[in-house]
Order: sequence, then C-alpha cells, then structure tokens
Amino acid sequence: MKGVLLAGGTGSRLFPLTRITNKHLLPIGDRPMISYGIEALVTAGITELMVVTGGTHAGEFLRLLSNGREFGLDLLVYGYQERAGGIAEALGLAEHFADGEPVCVMLADNIFERTIAASVERFAEQGTGSRLLFTEMEDPSHLQHLGVPELDGDGRVVRIIEKPADPPSHYCVTGVYFYDATVFDIISTLEPSGRGELEITDVNNHFIEAGTMQYDVIGGFWGDAGESIDAYYEVNDFVRANGANR
Ligand code: DAU
Repeated sequence: MKGVLLAGGTGSRLFPLTRITNKHLLPIGDRPMISYGIEALVTAGITELMVVTGGTHAGEFLRLLSNGREFGLDLLVYGYQERAGGIAEALGLAEHFADGEPVCVMLADNIFERTIAASVERFAEQGTGSRLLFTEMEDPSHLQHLGVPELDGDGRVVRIIEKPADPPSHYCVTGVYFYDATVFDIISTLEPSGRGELEITDVNNHFIEAGTMQYDVIGGFWGDAGESIDAYYEVNDFVRANGANR
C-alpha cells in the first residue's frame, strides 16, 4: 500500500500565520506539523509516499524532508497542486504514483494520539473498496466544522454530510482514507462543489452508494490542527504533554 500525504490548500483559517508559510510547516511540539503524518504512515508500515503541496512555500518541503530517508521512507516523491482545488483534486495528482495499488491518504493537518496501524492492516485484508477512520466527538458545534457520517440502526453508514448544520451522529470523519485504485476513476467524474473544490466527501459517498465502504473508530486524542487557531494550540498542548502516534 502506498501513502499519499496532502499538504496543499491555503490554510486560510490560520491566517495570518499561514501568510508567511505553509500550514503543514508550522510547529507542533518540537517539529513541523507534516512530520507527524509521515510518522503515522511509516510506523504503520507504509514507506512509499507522495507528498502533495502547493503555493509559494513548496520548496521548503524539499528542504525539510529531502529524500525521506531520515523519516524512515524508502521512496518520497512530490506533487504540486497549482491551486487549492480541493482534497480530491490533490489526491488525483497521485494517480501515476499509485500505479494501480491501493492508497492510504492522510491530511497533513491531522494528528492522532494512537497509531493507525490496525486500520492499515484491515484495509490490506479488505483489498478493495474504501475504508474510513472515524472518531467519536460529543460536541455538536465541533462536528459542524467536519465531515459527519449518518448511520442506520445496524451501524452502517448511509452517507457522509460535510459540515452539517445539524450533525446526524457523534462521529466525525478524520483525515485518513483508504482507497483502491478505482478512486481515480471516481475523481475524474467529480464536479466542483459550491466552494469550487473537488470534495473528498463526494468520493466517499460514491463508495458508500456502491456498498464498498467500511470504517473503523479510532480512540484516543484526534485533532485537526488546521481547523482554527484554537484547535492548532489545543493540538500543540496535547502533543507537548503526551506525544503522538503511539
Ligand atoms: O480533518 C478532517 C476533515 O478534513 C474531515 O472531517 C472533512 O470531512 C474533510 O473535508 C476535511 O475538512 P477540512 O475543512 O478540514 O479540509 P481542509 O480544506 O482544511 O483541508 C484539509 C487538508 O487537505 C489540508 O490540511 C491540506 C489538504 N488540501 C486541502 C485542499 C482544500 C490539499 O492538499 N489541497 C486542497 O486544495
């Protein structure tokens, strides 16, 4: 399984910090944010990675990550997204890198307390379709800023709603997604959403409708460090006190 770590976008919710650098290069604890995503993938056994970034600071990633050896990677390649056209558009740039293999996609602003290794193993066994990683979250006002799954009485996902005014469950969709190679065919059919982006939630709903999506619920702390300045510092406080990817 290959890894794709998405580090593009504008980071506008962290302005003005992100006017002078890429969000994923900001510090979390004692190192740049993106290194936690790499660590999450490498410790789960994924050692071939494509980092997709964009904007005016893309060169800094090369300076930080080099050829990836220091981070435990066997192969590190870079993709450049010309405009912030959405998570699904950024993933589409990885089609040739994936070369028909399944992918583990991670948003580089997501920080997990616990390792994602069990889900990587389960998707390797699953083989086809997609697998998502949910986490439980009680605060509905927080869920309104995330993707939220609607479940039926048997715990099956009916659909995912992006940033719902009225969250249909207490779970949120974290930024770890597993897909087989058909994901690139799905991306090629997407139309931009109202905010002009190719939405990963549309991709996920496609797999749900096809009946090929499964999910895991991960425990422990999870944070989206790009959600707001408050969230950024909350993630920082947690990581400084407890570490990550354990
Ligand atoms: O963090 C989990 C959430 O991430 C999910 O619950 C949502 O369902 C999902 O849509 C996403 O929501 P965000 O609003 O947090 O997405 P954001 O636009 O902040 O993008 C997240 C990461 O994706 C960002 O850190 C880098 C990457 N990205 C994003 C865009 C828009 C790109 O690489 N290129 C892009 O064009």
